Amino acid sequence: MRSFVAFFVLFIAACQNNDSQLPTPPEGATPKFKVMDFDAPEQCASCHPDHYNEWRSSMHAYAFVDPVFFAMHERGQRETGGKLDQFCTKCHSPIASLTGETPPFFNRNDLSPISQHGVQCDVCHTITKINKTLNADFELTPGNTKYGPIANPAPNNFHQSSFNAMFDRSEFCGACHEVVNGLGAKLEETFTEWVRATFAGMSVDCQDCHMPTYAGQAATGGPQRDRVHRHYFAGVDVPLVDFPDAALQRQMAEKLLQSSADLIVASPEAARAGDTLKIAVTVENNHVGHSLPSGVTAERQMWIAVVARDQSGQILYQSGQLDANGDLMDHHSALNSSADPALTVFRQLMYDETGKEVLFFWQAKTVENNLIPTFGSKTALYKFVLLQNLTGEINLEVTLRFRTLPPYFLRELGLDGLVAKVPIVDMAKVTRRVSIN
Ligand code: HEC
Ligand code: HEC
Ligand code: HEC
Ligand code: HEC
Ligand code: HEC
Repeated sequence: MRSFVAFFVLFIAACQNNDSQLPTPPEGATPKFKVMDFDAPEQCASCHPDHYNEWRSSMHAYAFVDPVFFAMHERGQRETGGKLDQFCTKCHSPIASLTGETPPFFNRNDLSPISQHGVQCDVCHTITKINKTLNADFELTPGNTKYGPIANPAPNNFHQSSFNAMFDRSEFCGACHEVVNGLGAKLEETFTEWVRATFAGMSVDCQDCHMPTYAGQAATGGPQRDRVHRHYFAGVDVPLVDFPDAALQRQMAEKLLQSSADLIVASPEAARAGDTLKIAVTVENNHVGHSLPSGVTAERQMWIAVVARDQSGQILYQSGQLDANGDLMDHHSALNSSADPALTVFRQLMYDETGKEVLFFWQAKTVENNLIPTFGSKTALYKFVLLQNLTGEINLEVTLRFRTLPPYFLRELGLDGLVAKVPIVDMAKVTRRVSIN
């Protein structure tokens, strides 16, 4: 990582000096490990069938299959002349990176089979030390010993087992779930957000929510245990290509999102025609151990959709609707960028050193967040004038909606074909009536 930072700093210095002679990417650095130092996940399946089947459908397995990742990575390497180097692959497929299989430009199909997997068993279960909860700064000790949370593991004839208490703690996850680029922009801050949440009084680790426990066997033929951990790692993301148990992963993401936020709508019970109707919509984060949303918040969109209809169903007012491209109608909309001045989106925006908004990780110098911290809330205000001839009642419908990847972002990457595959999840919905007198 240090060498990446150094290269990035050099690269930026070169840009600032308007020097077209960019330093060449590092060449021939000796890989830290050999491919044969690691075991493939398939080798674990016979004795750990549940762990294997769950992991296979997880976003950790998807991390180095994800077409969005590859489109971004390729573009980032092109735009920086290869200076991104191992920055992305070190997290998304640590084994590929540490065995020297991912020079700046590579074709996934050319890699050895094990390197084509992303965050796999032999990444996590060979981690022996977390140096920093940032940018994949951990140490791997691959080989015959698998490290894990069981203090008294039963012996087996495939590997040695070694207990390490860190497997049960958030720091373990924080090594990858905290991302800062070479320009110092804090791209993902899930671990820091979690630290703040613990100060605010939330006392659960990442594993408690993302690796729920059950009673069962950790290995075929092993002892019955009270606490074995699910390896689905459900979050909000879903695969956009053919992938094992994709429907199940979608279901789990939806369920998690629907248990995340509290939506509170304040509106008057009655109003008079000609009045200005004011609605306050509050989103509270009381259940999530980090901000809402979290992770790659420059790509995620969580937003408030408001619709007010008269008795005949005719729309009187709305915010948070989509344009014909499927985009929200803010400055990212190619069709209607000023149609929705009241729009509220919870996300991260990124800017370069001149203050211009940018869309990609490697271009960002600063970020601006509009996320809801744990035990925090944000309120959005909406108002509109009730027509003089209005009678009866108004039906208000307020929805908190979420999607992982907005259309404008996928189009920018040339991934137009994926736009229709991204689900929009209704996280919470509130309906209200206002009678007109
Ligand atoms: C992203 C990291 C990660 C990946 C990938 C991963 N594990 Fe785990 N695994 C963990 C953590 C963390 C625990 C312990 C959780 C705790 O104690 O809170 C664990 C626990 C285990 C255990 C001990 C029993 C249990 O469930 O607590 C076994 C066995 C295991 N994993 C096998 C596997 C296998 C096999 C794979 C691949 C198919 C795999 N793991 C992939 C992080 C990972
Ligand atoms: C021949 C069967 C077998 C194979 C193959 C196997 N394991 Fe295990 N593994 C076991 C048994 C048995 C245990 C102990 C379970 C217990 O005590 O509950 C175990 C325990 C573990 C633990 C927990 C260690 C601890 O102390 O917390 C991890 C992690 C683990 N295995 C990972 C893996 C990984 C990764 C692979 C594939 C590279 C793998 N295993 C392949 C049988 C196997
Ligand atoms: C109290 C339960 C809880 C804890 C603790 C927790 N999470 Fe989450 N996590 C959730 C819920 C619920 C969601 C879905 C809502 C959201 O996106 O924030 C989620 C979403 C996520 C996402 C997807 C975010 C996005 O919008 O793309 C990631 C990544 C994640 N968690 C990682 C972590 C890590 C790493 C930790 C520990 C540092 C952690 N979580 C701790 C409950 C939890
Ligand atoms: C070696 C790096 C690494 C480690 C260690 C790691 N993760 Fe991840 N995790 C990733 C990457 C990369 C992704 C994104 C995969 C993708 O969608 O392309 C991810 C995705 C996730 C997601 C899904 C996010 C979503 O948007 O749905 C969750 C949840 C998650 N991780 C939880 C954890 C937890 C809990 C731990 C600790 C037990 C952990 N991770 C440890 C790298 C890591
Ligand atoms: C320190 C580890 C780390 C680094 C470095 C990193 N990522 Fe990630 N990436 C993650 C984690 C963790 C997630 C999951 C967060 C979430 O889902 O919100 C993720 C999620 C993503 C996603 C979202 C996946 C989806 O389909 O929704 C994309 C795309 C992505 N990363 C691309 C990149 C690219 C390109 C780079 C390099 C410029 C990069 N990442 C660098 C850890 C990292």
